Formats: sequence, C-alpha cells, structure tokens
Amino acid sequence: MTTTAQTPEKNSFFLQHPFLWGAASASYQVEGFHKADGKGRSIWDVWMNDKQIGGKGVNGNEAIHFYDRTQYLKDIRLLKQLGLNSYRFSISWPRILPDGTGAINRQAIDHYRLFIKDLRAAGIEPVMTLYHWDMPYNLYQKGGWDSRESIQWFTEYAKVVFEHFNDLVKIYVLSNEMLVETDISLMAEELAAGRKSTLQILPQPENLERVLNQFNHKLLAAAAAAEIFHTYHIPQGEVGMAFPLFPTIAVNTASSAAAAFVDGILNRWFLDPIYKGTYPVDILDYARQHHLNINIQPGDAQRIKQAGFTYLGINYYAPIPVQQEDTSSSYQLIIPQLHNTDYAYNGANRPDQLERLLLRIKDEYGNPPVVITENGAGFPEEDQLLNGKVSDKRRTAYILNHINAMQSAISKGAHVYGYHVWSSHDNLEWSFGYDRRFGMIYVDFATQQRTLKESAIEYGNYIKKENSQK
Ligand code: NOJ
Repeated sequence: MTTTAQTPEKNSFFLQHPFLWGAASASYQVEGFHKADGKGRSIWDVWMNDKQIGGKGVNGNEAIHFYDRTQYLKDIRLLKQLGLNSYRFSISWPRILPDGTGAINRQAIDHYRLFIKDLRAAGIEPVMTLYHWDMPYNLYQKGGWDSRESIQWFTEYAKVVFEHFNDLVKIYVLSNEMLVETDISLMAEELAAGRKSTLQILPQPENLERVLNQFNHKLLAAAAAAEIFHTYHIPQGEVGMAFPLFPTIAVNTASSAAAAFVDGILNRWFLDPIYKGTYPVDILDYARQHHLNINIQPGDAQRIKQAGFTYLGINYYAPIPVQQEDTSSSYQLIIPQLHNTDYAYNGANRPDQLERLLLRIKDEYGNPPVVITENGAGFPEEDQLLNGKVSDKRRTAYILNHINAMQSAISKGAHVYGYHVWSSHDNLEWSFGYDRRFGMIYVDFATQQRTLKESAIEYGNYIKKENSQK
C-alpha cells in the first residue's frame, strides 16, 4: 500500500495566492427564504417544519436572512472590514435542482452567481460547498444516501454546478462532514418518527452497517463529481471535501485498542481510500465478524483515490477521548467529553490536538494540501449582548490558540493554505436551534441586527498584523 507524497502543483491556487483567512456558513443554517425563487424542499425543511424535531417554531425558514441581497451585502461589508479574504458558504441543492435531478432552477443559479460576484467585488475568494446536508426531500424518498443511485444523483447536480459556476469559482468543497451528516440524519429520522429523543453525532453500533454503506456512497459520489470537475480544466481549480477529523485519545492503556478502532471509523475510513486507495482492514474485519452487510464493490476505494482530490478540507473542533467500557464487548465505548461540555464536542480547547492532527496528515498521508474549512466553538455564557458589546473571551482565545497550533504545524512542514472560523455569524445549529451560537458576528434573530463580537475584532486584528508582516 503506497501513499504518494502530494506536493501541490506549481499552478495550484494555493501556491499562487496568499493564505486564505476566512469564515464559514451553510445554506440551511443562514439563508432563510425557504420558499423563495422556486426552491424545492430539503430533508431539513421537512424534519424541522412537518416533524418539528427542533421543537415548535424552530426551523430555517427565516434563519439570518442571508439569502436576501440587502442583508448579505451588509454582511460582506463586515467581513471585508475584518480583513477576511475568503468566505466558505454552501449552495442549496434543492434550490438549484428543486427535485434533486432534472429541471434546473435558473433563479437560484442567478442568485448565487450574483452573490459570488459580490464577494469577489469585496476581494473575498468564494469557497463553495456543494452539499452541506440539505438533501432534496424527493431524493430522500427514493432512498437518499442509502441508495447507490445517490452517486448518479450527486454527479448530475455537480455537473450542473460546474457548468454554471466554473468561470466564477475556483475552490470547491464537494461535501461537508459526511460522517456527522449521516449520524445526525439517522438520528433525525428517529426523532421524526418519535423513537428517540436526542441526536448523536457519532455512529452507534446498531447503525454501523447503514452508516458505512452511506459513507461509501458519499465518497463515491464525491469521486464521480471530482472526475467531472477535472474535465472542466478550471485554471487553478481546487476540488476536495471537508471532513470532521477527530483525533482520538485513549483515556488509559486498556483503552488504546478502542481508541484505534474509533479512529478507524471517524478518520481512517475517509482518509485511507482517498490517499491509499483502500478501506481500513480492521474496520472491514469487524464488519465481517459482526455479519454486517457492507456493500463495497471491488474498485470502489481505488476509484476514490484516483478521482484526484486536490486538497483536504479539515473541520476541527476537539479530540475525542475514548474509554473502553467493557472488555467483553468490542464496541461499547464511553466518549466522556461528548456529554459534559458546553456544546457537545465544541467546547474543548485542545489546539495541541489540531497540531497533532495536521502533522499526522503530513506524515501518514503524504502531506497533501490542507485547508482548515472549519474551526470554532460555542460558549453560551459569553454570547450575550451587553451595552452593545459581546465579550466572548473564550472564543477569542480558542481561535487564536488554534491559529498558533496551525502555524506551528506549518513551520514543521504541513501544507496548510487556509483557515476558516465556524462560523461567521450566529445561526441555526440544526435541530439544536438558535441558542447555540458559534458566530463571530452576533445576530439578534428578531431584528436581524448584527454586532461584531470581540472574537471577530481580534481575529481581524490578527489577520491585519499577519498581512503587514508579509
Ligand atoms: C460542523 C458543521 O459543518 C456545521 O454545520 C455545524 O454548525 C458546526 N459543526 C458546529 O457544530
């Protein structure tokens, strides 16, 4: 098994441009205007409205009005004022193709083209995510990601996107956090059906068969889309995916095998096919021993490797401590941190683990170009607007500490070319609602009034200082 070292091509975007300092958001979490311009319904429209999984009245129907040009122009002005030169956003599949496949909705294309031009006019590079969890409901009803046909559906969508945006967008994020999406969606189905009362972000043993099959379909869908991307020969075009990578930490020596196993599912399951062309043998063995019916066909993992992803997008929040609960069972793990921090995994301030992760990617996966596509945290006690100010000191420290860790990894040779805070704005944290604020920009959801938090100002100061030293 070989991993080829991946020095970026000389004409790659990343080598030709300054470091990307940015922030990120996603369509369903910010856009609102859920029926505007001929949009189709996504699974989240249905779950949040019809099934009310976030509670009554909690949904993305209004969100933070980011679909409204008057509003987003003001937001772009704020981002520019902070000194950001990159913005990662997602486009909504059911806006572009209301039924998921078939008829193209020109209004949505025009909307996003204008938005991208507006970003560019402010000197901000658009980093465009094609899929941030809002699957067209129509396709979900046909089997969604459980169906191998999803590969064709996504390919059709991606082709439409490249066809209509290749002149404006260079950096494509084909999909976001396929692991978390699968887990959250399966739990959302359970919630919607009234069988469960909480969401889980990590794969549950009873779901593992379904989870691994969905992952394979999602990776193959992205691979097929990357193959098409390359046929467009976009000058300095970059294509990749954003993965939530979770360094695992065994809480004691008896837990090291369990930590390695969890690492296999959370991290190696995605990195190995992309960079080595194989799925991790320990996880495949486990699946075989437990008679899981994993529908991987010969050549799948090789196809993923050969698709030619040009960079790796990393969403990093925190490591996962793993404790083997009961040696008689191979997949009964306690992951303590998930249950007691501010917002599940998002509160832990462990920049050292980001550095460890970046150096691992360098050493074990051939040092591919990396963009940090998300990094952030939520600290509810600090996200209060008092006398016109939000003094979010813990978030500020979190961001600056993680940037330092990234800089340290870069100084040791890691190929990192961009950093994006999750999120630019407070927004809808899926079924957890609007109380979980991750933004650097405070949003009063009733008035849509924005206020720069201290973290935004400090991040902006850091960027300006960096640029002045160049
Ligand atoms: C990752 C997801 O991509 C994003 O949608 C979510 O809001 C943040 N993490 C915070 O949990």
